[in-house]
Amino acid sequence: MTMLIRGGTLVSTDRTFIADILIDGGKIIAIDESDGSEIRNPDTGRRRTPPEVETIDASGKLIFPGGVDPHVHLDLPMFDTVSSDDHYSGTKAAAFGGTTTVLDFVSFDHPTLGESVEAWHQKAEKAAVDYSAHMNLTRFNEKIAAEIPYLLEMGISTLKVFTAYNGRLRLEDGNIFKALRVARENGMLVMLHAENGDVIDILVAEALAAGHTSPEWHAKTRPAWGAVESALRAFALAATADAPLYLVHMNTAGEVDMLKYGRERGLKVMGETCPQYLFFTEDDLRRPDGAKWICSPPMRSAADNARLSEGVADGTIQTIGTDHCPFFQDGTQPILYEGKMIAIPGKELGKDDFTKIPNGLPGVEDRLPVLWTSGVGSGKLTANQFVALTSTNPARIFGLYPRKGALLPGSDADIVIWDPHRKARHGVAQSHQRTDYNLYEGWELCGMPEKVFLRGQLIVDGDKWLGKAGMGEFLPRMPGAPVL
Ligand code: URP
Ligand code: ZN
Ligand code: ZN
Repeated sequence: MTMLIRGGTLVSTDRTFIADILIDGGKIIAIDESDGSEIRNPDTGRRRTPPEVETIDASGKLIFPGGVDPHVHLDLPMFDTVSSDDHYSGTKAAAFGGTTTVLDFVSFDHPTLGESVEAWHQKAEKAAVDYSAHMNLTRFNEKIAAEIPYLLEMGISTLKVFTAYNGRLRLEDGNIFKALRVARENGMLVMLHAENGDVIDILVAEALAAGHTSPEWHAKTRPAWGAVESALRAFALAATADAPLYLVHMNTAGEVDMLKYGRERGLKVMGETCPQYLFFTEDDLRRPDGAKWICSPPMRSAADNARLSEGVADGTIQTIGTDHCPFFQDGTQPILYEGKMIAIPGKELGKDDFTKIPNGLPGVEDRLPVLWTSGVGSGKLTANQFVALTSTNPARIFGLYPRKGALLPGSDADIVIWDPHRKARHGVAQSHQRTDYNLYEGWELCGMPEKVFLRGQLIVDGDKWLGKAGMGEFLPRMPGAPVL
């Protein structure tokens, strides 16, 4: 079906301009910035007034490419439970927040990488927006190394490695170095979870032995210095392997300093932070409901929030993802979700022991409205930076551009009509994330999606959900994506 979005103000990474967007077959086929009253026929080049197409008036509204969230965990088994958004509920929530592409993670919990990817596909096929995944490389030997290039045949071009979670997810430095080399040879990108697993294990054992069981000990036992030194350590490994590296969920000022240091020396290193690390601190873990803020790496200090915001604004940090990995605050109490009562064990599992609190937070739906209000609304970010951080840069870094992250002829018609003046008090009652709390409860937000299109189909219209489970497409990704 042909459709015209008329008179909106398009925002790209470097321009803001009024134009009409002509959509056909799920793609943008023309952008016309002549005068808003006519559009060219793409075949003949002649102007035509298009009464024959469905027209949506977007005058007075902003138009963004659909958000690309580079970091979500849907249906992720953790401890004795599973993250409470699956590939349908999490992607529906994403769409309500203006995000039309999500990048999930494949757990390496089958004998081979290939079997793990297959198992992930079975879970992911109910996604309601487009999706891909990074491979968690949590075991390593020569056989696994030899299988890595075959991930590309499955459309997966990124690997996540961990310097923490000893005995579970961590790779030794030598194996991270070998993985970086394999990635470099095959045009793949390694992503790093930076914390010091050895130090964490010692501090956790000491804390438990001393009877410390409350949520604040989660942060106290995962010190910022571990994040800083392991980020620099991995940058050094990447430099030696001449490979690119992407630092996920940056949470502390020292990581920003290390990223700046590496980039100034020409290393191919990039970074991502998440909204929670810009706004919350270790103090939140001391609240009576502190378990709600438990994630790894943990919240830090107000000075860390400020330095991360600075790194976002000055371009040291390339993307803002969410690390969306929600759990119920109280999974013994069902909530109503799409007409059914649902309860999934959550943070209450660790009420007597902080090490048993499932790690992770909701956020995929909150990302754009919260960042718009706090960043663009306060003058700290331009609208163009907002689009770069939340859509175009992740699309480029992860090999999806210009299909995603762009409003260009030939791009998928993933389009957000954004009302910069719409105000709302945010919270769990407004949210579509399948959990019983919202980190931004009571925040006054200004600016949110009005309509969201996925490949030309209207999936969110104000408060109405028009999308469906399974309408998301898997996005195979190519090697050799750029280093920004
Ligand atoms: O607490 C978090 N972030 N859970 C998800 C797993 C990870 O390391 O990103
Ligand atoms: Zn991580
Ligand atoms: Zn994560």
